[in-house]
Amino acid sequence: MALPRDRNEVTAATDRPATEAVFVADTAGLAGHPRGLTTLFFTEMWERFSYYGMRAILILFMVAPAAKGGMGLSTELAAAIYGLYTGSVYFTAIPGGWIADRLLGLRRAVLVGGILIALGHYCLAVNVRPLFFAGLVFIVLGTGLLKPNISSIVGQLYAKDDPRRDAGFSLFYMGINLGALISPLVCGYLGQKVGWHWGFGAAGVGMTLGLVQYVLGRNRLGRAGLLAAPAANAGRQWALILTAIGAAAALIYAVWPYREWLMLVLTAALFGWLLRTGARDRTERKRIGAIIVLFVFATLFWVGFEQAGSSLTLFADQYTRNVVFGWSFPSSWYQTVEPVFVVTFAPVFAWLWVSLGRREPSSPAKFAYGLLLLGLGFLFVAVAAQIYSRTQVKVSPWWLILLYLFHALGELSLSPVGLSTVTKLAPARIVGLMMGVWFLALSLGNFLAGHVAGYFEKMPLPQLFGAVFLTTTLSAVVLALVTPSIKRLMAGVH
Ligand code: PHE
Repeated sequence: MALPRDRNEVTAATDRPATEAVFVADTAGLAGHPRGLTTLFFTEMWERFSYYGMRAILILFMVAPAAKGGMGLSTELAAAIYGLYTGSVYFTAIPGGWIADRLLGLRRAVLVGGILIALGHYCLAVNVRPLFFAGLVFIVLGTGLLKPNISSIVGQLYAKDDPRRDAGFSLFYMGINLGALISPLVCGYLGQKVGWHWGFGAAGVGMTLGLVQYVLGRNRLGRAGLLAAPAANAGRQWALILTAIGAAAALIYAVWPYREWLMLVLTAALFGWLLRTGARDRTERKRIGAIIVLFVFATLFWVGFEQAGSSLTLFADQYTRNVVFGWSFPSSWYQTVEPVFVVTFAPVFAWLWVSLGRREPSSPAKFAYGLLLLGLGFLFVAVAAQIYSRTQVKVSPWWLILLYLFHALGELSLSPVGLSTVTKLAPARIVGLMMGVWFLALSLGNFLAGHVAGYFEKMPLPQLFGAVFLTTTLSAVVLALVTPSIKRLMAGVH
């Protein structure tokens, strides 16, 4: 399975051949991989532990009445905050990559990011309102510094054409999902059964363990993460000024009510620029065009998928019978189901694509399958909501489990495929920027998912989930229809 490439691939592969041998030779780590992979695997596992553990209880905490220790917010407001938070977490990946390149370097960016994330979770654990929002901001900034850059360091563990490279990223993706599947069990149990702040605190402890492990294991990284040195002094000054301007813009953006429109306009402007200036010839322009079309469908995918922590968690909490063997389990535990399926089926997908050989579907076709599977997942919950509205009896957990099975299969046919397609289609000199574009789809999707989840109480649920099912399925059909044209735009890349 092909996964994210490092942003500095070009530099790493062409400018410094002498350093290549140092890490190519390292086979002393996990499963014959460089030892640095072990360090990065656990750092990212703990970071995702903290992210998904906190996310599993975030909306439940916001809508819980004050008498139950919650914030007592309306579902609409809670969903909007949730969307803004999860959207921003991925949006900051774009400046985060840039700051690593210009100011901090990859390794320090990961360190500073991890410290900010841990601080953020501890702020939430303190459980007073001003610190709640400060905590969210810390996590947003920290994740922007950590998440894209740790993937880049993974990329630098391998030479450009090292055969272990894709497998290395697959292992790394396992670490991500391992963290994601353990944490709702821990943070969800503590948050919902013991006290909200214990759940948030556990997320902070997880990130702290990740940081300790990262610092102690840094010697294993060899030269990875040091390859792209930050710019020289004059450049740094500019970078500092730009960062300050960016931070000011972010503040305005956070309080501005029309931010979704602003994002769409900025995205359109970015695409216009990419097509006019980013592309140097016809082929490049066509391929960037293909990325833009795929971007639109990827965004639609995330709009549905990223309702996991919002509308689907509310459905789990309010309308599902959360009992096994007479014991009632916390509703946040459903967040464990999807990563379990991802870990289980990731090897199957890797095998499937290879074994299909010449009949392997093209990337746009895989995207269409992803959307179709996502839509089918929503069909289950739409039916479940309909059953509830007729019987007024909480529905079986199996509906959500089936939904998450389909969502996991959808994720596997779209998310890793998207990352590798972007790296193949983007001109090498702007591959980092195009990686940012990929995060932008995730970010936009999260914002819009927050909007959709905001209808949770304003619209009958069978209708709400049915609408997501219909939109997603329809877009899968449209994508299938335009797949031949996208393939033409891709000009020889599959
Ligand atoms: N489950 C993935 C993760 O947390 C979702 C994701 C994909 C996030 C791509 C960012 C980029 O890593």
